[in-house]
Amino acid sequence: MMLSTDRQPLLIKWSIFIFALLIGVVSIVYTNILVDNLMEREKRQIDLFAKVQSFTVTSNENTTFLLTEFLQANHSIPVILADDKNNPLSFKNIEIPKEANEREFLLAEIEKMKAQHQPIVVQIDANWKQYIYYKNSVLIDQLRYFPYIQLTIIGIFFVVVYFIFMSARKAEQNRVWIGLAKETAHQLGTPLSSLIAWVEYLKADDTFDQSITTELQKDVQRLEMITARFSNIGSVPALKTEDVYDVVTAIVAYLQKRISTKVKIDILTENDNQLSLETILNRPLFEWVIENLCKNAVDAMSGTGQITIAIAKVKNNTQIQLDITDTGKGMTAKHAKQVFQAGFTTKKRGWGLGLTLAKRIVENYHNGKIWVLKSELNVGTTFRILIPKK
Ligand SMILES: Nc1ncnc2c1ncn2[C@@H]1O[C@H](COP(=O)(O)OP(=O)(O)O)[C@@H](O)[C@H]1O
Ligand SMILES: [Mg+2]
Repeated sequence: MMLSTDRQPLLIKWSIFIFALLIGVVSIVYTNILVDNLMEREKRQIDLFAKVQSFTVTSNENTTFLLTEFLQANHSIPVILADDKNNPLSFKNIEIPKEANEREFLLAEIEKMKAQHQPIVVQIDANWKQYIYYKNSVLIDQLRYFPYIQLTIIGIFFVVVYFIFMSARKAEQNRVWIGLAKETAHQLGTPLSSLIAWVEYLKADDTFDQSITTELQKDVQRLEMITARFSNIGSVPALKTEDVYDVVTAIVAYLQKRISTKVKIDILTENDNQLSLETILNRPLFEWVIENLCKNAVDAMSGTGQITIAIAKVKNNTQIQLDITDTGKGMTAKHAKQVFQAGFTTKKRGWGLGLTLAKRIVENYHNGKIWVLKSELNVGTTFRILIPKK
């Protein structure tokens, strides 16, 4: 079992997630503090404006220059000065659209400003008041949305990097699979051809016990089958039109001789013409899939039970479906999700590669699908394979 090793990445994933969340929250909170400070500052600026305005109006001296100075210094806060009947007297940092009526536009702006801030009252004397309306500068609005925009961009960046990383990893795994398979086929090839020659030599020798030659021949054929599998998975395998029923029957006959007599393997098909079970596949690789599934089934049944392989045409005769069912010990839903992961095994002497290989063969080489259709503890398991006919 991949115990410590498969919990560690989970821990790392959670740590990264929590860390990212923390960065997000901190930057939003910090920006909000900044925005609050800025708003406070803008309010003080407007307060000051109110004082200058009141001073300018009441002063006997000509102090309008103060007001002008002040207004010029404010580049960013939109303000409207209005009398106590809400008539706009002057404004700053507001862009009046060309086609708009200035007065109406300013009145509409005053309404918007009211929604944001209380106007500042300029008390000129007991019954002369003016009002200064203002709203947040564009800067504040931009700053408020900044962390969200920033976090979205960073988020997109990480998603893209993640996918690039994953596809690079997949490409590397592919290279390892293909390289190892090619190398294995290549290394087996040389002694194998020599063995074939030796068997032929012994066959011609009358003094040699021919029952041994027959057994030797069988082993050589077995080795040839293994070599064919590795060489096919290490290259772009040729797909040929084959009858799935024939392929499954042949591999089952082969397996039946090698497993416990207490395990029965049955093949079920629909009643109609078996010829229509033809599809395109690579025979050595497809046999490998069936063999792996049957061997797992045998393991799950500890040597006694029933395996059923049901073959059917589905999806308007465009796909062939195989259901491989055993009466074994079954597995938990959690395990059923993990069985196709490389290295996942619950066996003492398992490699956890049988189903990974089966998935590769079905999906990458036959454009099909394989999954655990159902599994119940102490009842059994069904794996389903779908392969398109074209
Ligand atoms: N038919 C089945 N019934 C119950 N468990 C299964 C079955 N097939 C596979 N498994 C589970 O999936 C695991 C992985 O299978 P596999 O990839 O073939 O590797 P291995 O056979 O080396 O363990 C097995 O160890 C087993 O726990
Ligand atoms: Mg296995």
